[in-house]
Amino acid sequence: MEAGGSVGLVGAGRMALAIATGILAAGNVKPEAIIASAPSDTNLCKFKEMGMRTTHDNDNVVKNCTVLFLAVKPHLLTNVLANICPLVTPAHLVVSVAAGVTIDTLESLLPRGCRVLRMMPNLPCTVLQGASVFCCGSHATTSDADLLKGLVSACGLCEETPESYIDIHTGVSGSGVAYVYLFAEALIDGAVKMGMPYELSKKLVAHTLLGAGKMMLDSGEHPAKLKNDVCTPGGTTVHGLYQLEKGNLRSTVMDAVEAATGHAREVGKRLQPHQGLGQR
Ligand SMILES: NC(=O)c1ccc[n+]([C@@H]2O[C@H](COP(=O)([O-])OP(=O)(O)OC[C@H]3O[C@@H](n4cnc5c(N)ncnc54)[C@H](OP(=O)(O)O)[C@@H]3O)[C@@H](O)[C@H]2O)c1
Repeated sequence: MEAGGSVGLVGAGRMALAIATGILAAGNVKPEAIIASAPSDTNLCKFKEMGMRTTHDNDNVVKNCTVLFLAVKPHLLTNVLANICPLVTPAHLVVSVAAGVTIDTLESLLPRGCRVLRMMPNLPCTVLQGASVFCCGSHATTSDADLLKGLVSACGLCEETPESYIDIHTGVSGSGVAYVYLFAEALIDGAVKMGMPYELSKKLVAHTLLGAGKMMLDSGEHPAKLKNDVCTPGGTTVHGLYQLEKGNLRSTVMDAVEAATGHAREVGKRLQPHQGLGQR
C-alpha cells in the first residue's frame, strides 16, 4: 500500500475481523492505520484489543482511509452507502464483501467514476486459510487489483475472476465450508458409532480433511486419482466408497452447489436498486 494509505472497515463483524487480521498478518499495514466502525462495541472491542482504531460513526472511517471495505450485511448496504456516499472521493478504493451485491448495484450507489472491487471471502479467512475471489468494477485498475491482493495475501487464496463466477464461489467455497462440516460431523458420528471416543474422532477427522486438502494442493492431482490411490482392490476403502455411491453423495453435493449458487443469484437480483435509485 502507498505511504500514508490506511484501511477502513464499515462493519466490524466476523468477516471484517478476518480481513483485518489477514491485513495485519501480511505486515505492510500497522494496526493504527486501520479503523473500523459498528453501531455497538460488541465486536469493536476485538479490533481495539489488536491496536486498531474504532468508531461508531461510519463517516469517520471514510474520512480516515484510502481503502474502504464494506462489511455490513447485504440488506443494510443501500442505507449505509446512501449515508457515506457524499464523503467518498476519487482517492478511495471501495471493496465490498457483501454477498450478492453486484458491481452494477455498488457503482449505482457510489459517486460516478468510483473505483470498486467486489470480493467474496469465506470464513476460513479467520484462520488465514480462506478461499476468496474478487472482480473489478468498471473504473478499477490493475494496480487496484494488485493492491487488494497484496493487502489480503495472508488471508489465504485470493483469485481475480469474472463477476459471473462470484455466486458460484459463494455456492462452492462460501457455503462449501458448511458442507464440509456436515461431512465431518457424519465421519465423527460414524467413528463414535463404531466405538471411538468423540474427542479423538473429532481430532482425527479434522486432520483427515486438512491432510486430504493439502495433498490435493501439493500434488496438483485430480481428486479422482488421489481417491484411487487409497483404494486397494477388494480393500476397506472401496467398501466404504460403495456405500457413499449408493447414497448418491456426488450428485447430492453437485445439487447442493447448484442450489446455493442459484440462491446467491436470486439474492443478488433482489438487492438490485430500482432503476436510477442512488445513481449519482
Ligand atoms: N461470514 C461469512 O462467511 C461471509 C462470507 C462472505 C461474505 N460475507 C459478507 O460479509 C458481510 C459481513 O458479514 P459477517 O458475517 O461479518 O456479519 P456480522 O458478523 O453479523 O457483522 C456485521 C457487522 O456490521 C455491523 N453493522 C450493523 N449495522 C451497521 C451499520 N449501519 N453501519 C456499520 N456497521 C454496521 C455490525 O455491528 P455490531 O458489531 O454492532 O453488531 C457488525 O459489526 C456480509 O455482507 C456478508 O454477506 C460473509
